[in-house]
Amino acid sequence: MKRTHTCGDLSALNLDNEVSLNGWISKSRDLGGLHFIDLRDRYGVTQIVFNEDINEDAFQRVKKLGLEDVIGITGKVVSRPADAVNKNIPTGEIDVEVTDLIVYNESVPPPFDINDRNSASEDHRLKYRYLELRTRDLQEKMIVRHKAAIATRNFMNEADFVEIETPVLMKSTPEGARDFLVPSRIHGGKFYALPQSPQTYKQLLMVSGFDKYFQIVKCFRDEDFRADRQPEFTQIDIEMSFVDQDDVLKLGTDLTRHIWKSVINVELPESFPIMNYHEAMERYGSDKPDIRFDLELQEMAEYVEQSDFNAFKSVLEAGGRVKGIVCQNASTYSRKVIDELTDYLKKYFGAKGLAWMKCTDGKLDGGISKFFPDSVQADIISNLNIADDSILFMVGDNANIVFAALSALRLELANRENLIDSTKWAPLWVVDFPLVEWNEDKNRWDALHHPFTSPNLEDLATLDDDPGSVRSLGYDVVMNGYELGGGSIRIHDKDLQSRIFTLLGIGKEEAQEKFGFLMDAFKYGAPPHGGMAFGFDRIVMLLAGSNQIRDVIAFPKTTSALSLMDNSPSPVTKEQLEELHLELRDDDS
Ligand code: AMO
Repeated sequence: MKRTHTCGDLSALNLDNEVSLNGWISKSRDLGGLHFIDLRDRYGVTQIVFNEDINEDAFQRVKKLGLEDVIGITGKVVSRPADAVNKNIPTGEIDVEVTDLIVYNESVPPPFDINDRNSASEDHRLKYRYLELRTRDLQEKMIVRHKAAIATRNFMNEADFVEIETPVLMKSTPEGARDFLVPSRIHGGKFYALPQSPQTYKQLLMVSGFDKYFQIVKCFRDEDFRADRQPEFTQIDIEMSFVDQDDVLKLGTDLTRHIWKSVINVELPESFPIMNYHEAMERYGSDKPDIRFDLELQEMAEYVEQSDFNAFKSVLEAGGRVKGIVCQNASTYSRKVIDELTDYLKKYFGAKGLAWMKCTDGKLDGGISKFFPDSVQADIISNLNIADDSILFMVGDNANIVFAALSALRLELANRENLIDSTKWAPLWVVDFPLVEWNEDKNRWDALHHPFTSPNLEDLATLDDDPGSVRSLGYDVVMNGYELGGGSIRIHDKDLQSRIFTLLGIGKEEAQEKFGFLMDAFKYGAPPHGGMAFGFDRIVMLLAGSNQIRDVIAFPKTTSALSLMDNSPSPVTKEQLEELHLELRDDDS
């Protein structure tokens, strides 16, 4: 019984038509001489009526059918009685009165209610992901993903970019996360790595003369997972020749605007604000600030210096920082609430504590206020514009802890105080990242982005003496507090590249072994180039109005990198291991 329409098509325009529909039974109601079912496919739901007087056989058979059975029906489109009209769905004015029924397949009772995604725990739904994908919610999210991919390809094609696929079995790339490794059967003891990104390949493609490359591509990183990270995820990867930073920012802005417009009909600003890394950290404590709300970080050093609060004074003496956040509704911050916030910052961000004082009747009160003389309190109140019934939170520690703790507190307070307008879109570029950061554990400088990121040529003079002060030509695009993408202008000069390798403690031999192929390629005429990659899943997550990356990936992994549906990773046979020249340790098998 071939369908003439889908379950989302029919309306009063089709009255009296003879139609055939195929789909799944999503509801079933027995009303004596009439039996109603809702028939569902990915386009919608249509109400089907089985009337004892029209087809007795079909009427008897449908009574025995259950939810999620797959059927086909033929029948006539009739209008619903006025009191049964459902204005909320496109098919809500009509029913189809069945003349013929075919049962394609009966389902065992489904493990959860497909009409209600929240009827089961997430683990249970992930085990039956193919059924969860039948839910309206996930079907809509998958369609958003599809539209975002199409919008990307259309835009990049229009802009003259060529999509080129790069290998999935490759040499390990220096992207900073841990590689997934694939043992070679033919070359015992040797391994491929799955790409953390196609970084080296896209740079090679610039040498090959493909001056505008892109790819929607799977990337693999064996790292710790969070709500916005998966072990395998998708990037919109981009690289361009003969460009500077402004060109890449413009392209990235235009692509983002095009996707937002095409998929959810939102007009983003023509250009996005550009903030340097230093300012982002000082004002928001984060290099991916959510700028939909204020609650900016305040500098507290000058007041601490005039106070008697020794814990903070010694932090400053040791080169640390003290910063604060002013939040309204102080009276709702009871001892208990402050203790909960403190525990959160201690547990997840390594803060030693959370100091506070409240403003009442134009004076600071409670917490550590007694350590601040009246005149200093007056300065704090007037300089930081603190109104009555506000609370000033403070953290003092090394800069990393202060920023991490206060940026987390900022988000927590914004949520508590309902300061985030969820209908707002707040994109921005963050630029002028430091080129390198000091790795305490390994006692060396690490590239903040990757070793091919160009330093800002204006800062080259201090590269040897004060590498920490050198800015890179790296940039990130941020939306509503999520890092959507990032990239850089690359080094294309081999002398500068070897200086950077030396700075990063990568010796000549190691550089040759790890990146020799790229360095060799650069000898044959490498154009100046740069690019970026967007996290495609994160884009879709935002477009779909979710805060969970698993929602927009058809078959995702759990936070502990398991696939609950097929139970991977899973053991393999001894023969498979032998073929791969591998042996398991006793404690692994
Ligand atoms: P980067 O490592 O910043 O840059 O990655 C680019 C973007 O990919 C997304 N992303 C992830 N999404 C989901 N799960 C993950 N585990 C994950 N890791 C990263 C983020 C991020 O901004 N080759 C460079 C780009 C370049 O320099 O051109 C790169 O991969 O949204």
